Amino acid sequence: MPKNYHDVYKCSLENPEGFWAEAASSIYWTKSWDKVLDDTRPPFYRWFPGAETNTCYNAVDRHVEAGHGDRIALIYDSVMTGTKRVISYKELQDQVTRFAGVLHEQNITAGDRVIIYMPMVPEAVVAMLGCARLGAIHSVVFGGFAPQELATRIDDCTAELIVTATCGLEPDRKVEYMPIVDEAIELASHHIEKVILLQRNEHLVDPSPRRDIDWHEAMARAKPADWVPVKATDPLYILYTSGTTGQPKGVVRDNGGHMVGLNWSMKNIYNIDQSEVFWAASDIGWVVGHSYIVYAPLIYGCTTLMFEGKPVGTPDAGVFWRVISEYKVAALFTAPTAFRAIKREDPNGELIKNYNLENFRTLFLAGERTDPDTLHWAEEKLNRPVIDHWWQTETGWAMGANCMGIEHLPIKPGSPTKAVPGYDIQILSPSGKQLAAGEMGAICVKLPLPPSGFPTLWNAEKRYVDAYMAEFPGYYQTGDAGHIDEDGYIYVMARTDDVINVAGHRLSTGAIEEVLCNHQDVAEAAVIGVSDQLKGQLPLGFAVLKLGVTKSHADIIQELRQSVREIIGPVAAFKTAVIVERLPKTRSGKILRNTMQKIANSEDYKAPATIEDPTVLTEIKNALIEIGYARS
Ligand code: COA
Ligand code: AMP
Repeated sequence: MPKNYHDVYKCSLENPEGFWAEAASSIYWTKSWDKVLDDTRPPFYRWFPGAETNTCYNAVDRHVEAGHGDRIALIYDSVMTGTKRVISYKELQDQVTRFAGVLHEQNITAGDRVIIYMPMVPEAVVAMLGCARLGAIHSVVFGGFAPQELATRIDDCTAELIVTATCGLEPDRKVEYMPIVDEAIELASHHIEKVILLQRNEHLVDPSPRRDIDWHEAMARAKPADWVPVKATDPLYILYTSGTTGQPKGVVRDNGGHMVGLNWSMKNIYNIDQSEVFWAASDIGWVVGHSYIVYAPLIYGCTTLMFEGKPVGTPDAGVFWRVISEYKVAALFTAPTAFRAIKREDPNGELIKNYNLENFRTLFLAGERTDPDTLHWAEEKLNRPVIDHWWQTETGWAMGANCMGIEHLPIKPGSPTKAVPGYDIQILSPSGKQLAAGEMGAICVKLPLPPSGFPTLWNAEKRYVDAYMAEFPGYYQTGDAGHIDEDGYIYVMARTDDVINVAGHRLSTGAIEEVLCNHQDVAEAAVIGVSDQLKGQLPLGFAVLKLGVTKSHADIIQELRQSVREIIGPVAAFKTAVIVERLPKTRSGKILRNTMQKIANSEDYKAPATIEDPTVLTEIKNALIEIGYARS
């Protein structure tokens, strides 16, 4: 294999089958593939058809069998509970085989769906791997979502079972999970019979005797279950994500391609060795958590670190440095917003000086664009490479990165560097023409996506095609817009749909709009993402009231905030709304959200030629000035 970026990249595009077959040789297969890539039914490409394997076996058992049972698989550090644990590969194998036994006792078999709604505890990793061991498909739901969002996922994947815990722990409050789970089960049309419940000492509850199975009791009596071979193309998990409409999309990840892509990335992108500790400071509810807290480090056989806490306030902005130093972390992966939070609390990086970071080599940032200020601050204070890389739930790993294990390319602030091998990234005009260097357009990937790319959406093949593949035939449309410069550096500048990025969390403004529109006093509403110094973006709502409403605007806004919190969840961070007389629209009735966004961000804007009444823009601007947005 060549060892410079240019040659590796070229090789991956010229001979993708050879390239990925070689990468696949690091994975254990019970049966080899009939062919590396099935391209007979575009855009539904499948990697390694005919092959059989098991993700849990590759992530756990094979390391034990290779004599690495005593190696630490998982380090757990919870600032929220003061707990520290280390779990070896052998211990992880014991827990995972037992948990698979618990699932087996509940008649869970290959292809069944299991919802995991859990905080950042090692049992969540055990639950994911236990499902994978049996070929069951897990769907992890982020703890910051409300019952309605959980219910939507229960219904969409028709889950057989929920695995949950009694609480999550946020710095200022305990998030009681049981009322959320109970309400979601009540709201869902699909019937959930059984819940496996992990009692956390921080919050013990009375279980529902006929429904709930106690995690600890069940584990103690479980008969360990062996892993079962599954097809490489069988789903490993479904992860719901936002965009295009209020209804979340069930991104499907397969077993074979996923392992090949992630395993390759550990060395080639992150430059990690098996003897090292890798820390993704994310949450298992997001794709970063799936890929880089759980699957990639474990499949690769290094040590993963799971952290329950925040970058600031638990107890201070030095906690990341404490964890890096205490566990000799080689690479940290987190969101730029975490660094903005640290920088705000400790602008001179004084707390860094209290810790020995000699093992720490690289900081990786993703989830949103790394703004040059944050990049420079982190580079200067840490004196190490800071690597912005760009990816999505849909791909499961980075599409654009500085591949540190291949060649450390010069960094250009504001760019996640170049296309990762396997991704043929092009910028297209609205008519599908490939644009020249520097020209802004839709960022697309020429099909097929490399291994680990989503093969479909759960039970929604048509939506898969319509949402991602139809606008530019032969390409996957990422939903991001930007340009590629003359050196091949990618610049991701905006979304082309309704997705906003709030503190590294992906949200749909469409979903928030739906909640606002359902309020009894609201005639119509629009939500945009406004720039925020800490969180990158924040949602901002505009509501037009029905005629005759006399309630105070302040009360209505408070109710809107509360509704979004109750229906989508606290993670939406919906705090700001304004009541307006009218929304700006085109003559055909389309709301001019982009223009509203520019006004709110105090950017230059022009009334589009198609606007129905340009005076509405002045009304919007005045309303925004009153609440502290938009320059007068
Ligand atoms: N369960 C329940 N509630 C949660 C939650 C969870 N797992 N995660 C967040 N929330 C809640 C928060 O408590 C907060 O609630 P509040 O309105 O009552 O205060 C709300 O959701 C918004 O949370 P967040 O946007 O995360 O803001 P924050 O002020 O709590 O923290 C940061 C700000 C920057 C410290 C935090 O967002 C962070 O660490 N971000 C990094 C994100 C990340 O790693 N993303 C993964 C991509 S790599
Ligand atoms: P998610 O699916 O939650 O990972 O969110 C994916 C979206 O986050 C992408 O489509 C981008 O809009 C944004 N994103 C992620 N990483 C980056 C990055 N490094 N630079 C710019 N945008 C990013």
